[in-house]
Amino acid sequence: MNNISITKANSIKGQITVPGDKSISHRGVMFGAIAEGLTELTGFLDGADCRSTISCFRNMGIDIKQDNDHVLIQGKGLYGLKEYNGTLDVGNSGTTTRLISGILAGSPIHSTLNGDASIQSRPMKRIIEPLQQMGADISSIKGNDCAPLQINGGKLHTIHYNSPVASAQVKSCILLAGLYCDGETTVTEPVLSRNHTELMLNGFGADVKTITSQNTDSSNMSIGSKVTDTSATATIIGGPKLIGQQIAVPGDISSAAYFIVAGLICDNSDLLIENVNCNPTRAGILKVCEKMGANIEYLNKRIVSGEEVCDIHVTTSDLHGCRVDGELIPTLIDEIPVIAVMASQASGTTVIADAAELKVKESNRIDSVVENLRAMGIACEPTDDGMIIHGRDFTNTDGSKSYSIHGAHISTKSDHRIAMAFAIAGLVADGKTSFDDENCVAISYPTFFQTLQKIINK
Ligand code: S3P
Repeated sequence: MNNISITKANSIKGQITVPGDKSISHRGVMFGAIAEGLTELTGFLDGADCRSTISCFRNMGIDIKQDNDHVLIQGKGLYGLKEYNGTLDVGNSGTTTRLISGILAGSPIHSTLNGDASIQSRPMKRIIEPLQQMGADISSIKGNDCAPLQINGGKLHTIHYNSPVASAQVKSCILLAGLYCDGETTVTEPVLSRNHTELMLNGFGADVKTITSQNTDSSNMSIGSKVTDTSATATIIGGPKLIGQQIAVPGDISSAAYFIVAGLICDNSDLLIENVNCNPTRAGILKVCEKMGANIEYLNKRIVSGEEVCDIHVTTSDLHGCRVDGELIPTLIDEIPVIAVMASQASGTTVIADAAELKVKESNRIDSVVENLRAMGIACEPTDDGMIIHGRDFTNTDGSKSYSIHGAHISTKSDHRIAMAFAIAGLVADGKTSFDDENCVAISYPTFFQTLQKIINK
């Protein structure tokens, strides 16, 4: 795929599905590898990140058969991984790096992990510190708290870790290391982050409980329920026997987000996105759409493999700006680039705050979003922990209306979510939108542009 360009759409119409959830696909492979017996994944995300996870476990002696979105993993139990004589390649994937580290810290093998330039600049101290507190021998080889990482697995002991960040990758890393301890390992995070590890590990036979400081059991949340604004503590009991499972991976809300926004901001649009994971710890974008006045419906709500799933129907909407902050942020962290695009098409101002984590994603997403919005003519400002976006009724201080959105050559920073978010902006812009690296969408959504072409009416 090369030289894609996007022009204004007359409307967006149709009925689509999106590829499997990336977070759940990674976890299905990892937990299947350390379970006993066969794990079967259907609806697996066949994207570059999840392929990195498969390749790491294959290199550690796990038999994994992959046929597009169908994956069979022959698990070897908690202590079944074989030492690999080379460097495990995590590619661009932070989830692979951080979750695998928890497993490797407790496995009696020596491992080296490394990935691409982006991974080598992402912070790993957030997992190195708690793992060292558990007695792990893990270090950043260059001493800069980033990958490459050296892990000499061995005996671990339990901790109660107070995480300074609401990060599912940090929480999951510690819970996975907790599998290798005697007794209870707990992680407290300031706000509940995505809980796929907890839900799925329980499905494999582990004992994980989550209590918020309001004593709400997060496993009882339903679609539309509120994610608590208080801290959350997950506890795991070490040494369970994990048993292989059959898992139907639902569609990824992070991928559906692009089309949700397209259907809301393009004229004359009507779009149904089927089979989307609406786990409340992931579905913050739906709350933001509602706050902005979107025409959005949730149909056919159901539970699939322990996760909440529904079909999402959107039509063209008259949106207004809003504030996006606090407890909502971890539930929509990956959707902020496309939320910013949506905000540019709303009336009024949108403020995104409490989202400093954006700076340590695949690119610095505060900078990447602001730079590209400005390149398209949108008035916006970066802040320390987010950004301010002025909507389509923006007027200059002298009262003149200079606002318009026009096509641009997008500087993606090879960040898949920047490329896809700005492809959606291109649908409402005058002129042509092109990309310095459209191939980066393969990280999470290899067929993104094909699906987009199907629903655009010129
Ligand atoms: C993920 C957690 C989030 C998210 C990432 C996937 C996961 O990262 O941004 O794309 O699968 O656990 P953090 O936990 O670092 O916020």
